[in-house]
Amino acid sequence: MYELRNVTKLYTRGKDTVRALDGIDLTIADGDRLVIQGPTGGGKSTLLQMLGGLDRPTSGEVVLDGTDLAKLSESKLTRVRSENIGFVFQSFNLIPTLTAQENVETALVPLGVKTKERRERAAEALTSVGLGERLGHLPGEMSGGQQQRVAIARALVKQPKVLLADEPTGNLDEGMRDEIMDVLESMWKEHGLTFIMVTHDSAIAKKAPRLATIRKGKITVKENAGA
Ligand SMILES: Nc1ncnc2c1ncn2[C@@H]1O[C@H](COP(=O)(O)OP(=O)(O)O)[C@@H](O)[C@H]1O
Ligand SMILES: [Mg+2]
Repeated sequence: MYELRNVTKLYTRGKDTVRALDGIDLTIADGDRLVIQGPTGGGKSTLLQMLGGLDRPTSGEVVLDGTDLAKLSESKLTRVRSENIGFVFQSFNLIPTLTAQENVETALVPLGVKTKERRERAAEALTSVGLGERLGHLPGEMSGGQQQRVAIARALVKQPKVLLADEPTGNLDEGMRDEIMDVLESMWKEHGLTFIMVTHDSAIAKKAPRLATIRKGKITVKENAGA
């Protein structure tokens, strides 16, 4: 469970200060699915970075299961991240010289998983996203949708509690978008994840049980009982 209290993030560049997040209060329960929308530059990616412990707030608390991520040492934060949090980005962020299997395995290296188990779990994760036949392929040999599936397998192979996705379908054409959304949806259901996703797709937003809008660093959350 996440509890964010008065989270503010300032970026300073020369004399200019950008208030990317401005006093965010937000609670996200375990197993929740939260969709985040809002205009470009509103603070969506910054909020995901706070939730994922990729960066720290200027002030405020980002409490995950009782631990304030803002106060953790760098090494403890890295550990929380590699054990508990899976990321999927718009730009798949795969390593071009590694096969699908090897890309997925990279997520298990920091956890000290032995080679044989790493291979098995990576193959299993790739099979679960429909890529069991593509283990040995390089990212350049796969379509955008397939590459994003590899990224999803990499995010989930460590069995995280939380999945964060920042515009995961932003680089895909329409047909692939639905396909990737279906994969994410079924992973969320299957694994009981807490799933937080930034998307511009209004069809998805309409169906979201909980929809957050971020504008100029401020958040509003709408519960949609009918979804
Ligand atoms: N590393 C950074 N350095 C300076 N300004 C940044 C940085 N990251 C984001 N910003 C600024 O913070 C604001 C929010 O950005 P962002 O969270 O990326 O918005 P969104 O994802 O909603 O488009 C924007 O004004 C952006 O220019
Ligand atoms: Mg963004």
